[in-house]
Amino acid sequence: SELHRMRAAGEKIACLTAYDASFAMLEDRAGVDLILVGDSLGMVMQGGSTTTPVTVSDIVYHTRCVAPHLKRAFLVADLPFLSYATLERALDASQRMMQEGGAKMVKLEGGREQASIVEYLAVRGVPVCAHLGLQPQFIHKMGAFKVQGREEAAAEAMLHDAKVLTEAGADLLVLECVPSSLGKRIAEISSTPVIGIGAGPDVHGQILVLQDILNISPMVTTGRKPRFVKNFMQGAADIEAAVRNYVQAVKSAAYPEL
Ligand code: KIV
Repeated sequence: SELHRMRAAGEKIACLTAYDASFAMLEDRAGVDLILVGDSLGMVMQGGSTTTPVTVSDIVYHTRCVAPHLKRAFLVADLPFLSYATLERALDASQRMMQEGGAKMVKLEGGREQASIVEYLAVRGVPVCAHLGLQPQFIHKMGAFKVQGREEAAAEAMLHDAKVLTEAGADLLVLECVPSSLGKRIAEISSTPVIGIGAGPDVHGQILVLQDILNISPMVTTGRKPRFVKNFMQGAADIEAAVRNYVQAVKSAAYPEL
């Protein structure tokens, strides 16, 4: 309800990933509104090149490290690769995220084909965030990490996905790596807040991977840094100041630039 209030008030939602207690406390203090224990931990914590090997137990472990240290930030946990391939698996994984991990919401990747899973979880009291656009868990099907929804037909399909998923009960949408114009269109038609990562400035909030804004992620060191990533350590006295600067930049709409 707080995220919906922020959207209605036109207040941008500042989101960031975290995977451990120290950074959870720091981000919470720095004013981050929503913290995601993302399966990006497969890259930034485990050093892998994809999120495929991440397990439910991995996410539960890191969620448990983060949850007790949040005073105000809302905690979301990722459902990893194939953990929501059936209704039963999705329910079991979500139960673990919420009961063992302490998450308040789970996130899953995919479009309208996930609607029955979203509905199954939502009617059982599991808040769901649906992740559209670039879906890193589908990398082995897609072949490469690239911008999604460039062509009008693909954009229309994504708009339809957003509508179907929110009607199925999704409470939040994450939109990754789509043209700004499509980010704007989806934010306009969506009944739930839309959080962008490489989706332009006209969505209701932004999310980035913590290590990316601190300029220490493996992506940075291997030179595969996505164009939307910004180094907030530049000009910051310390890590907490960098996170505060990120929050401030999202709130004031200084990040992302058009
Ligand atoms: O796994 C992750 O960290 C994510 C986001 C960055 C949106 O899905």
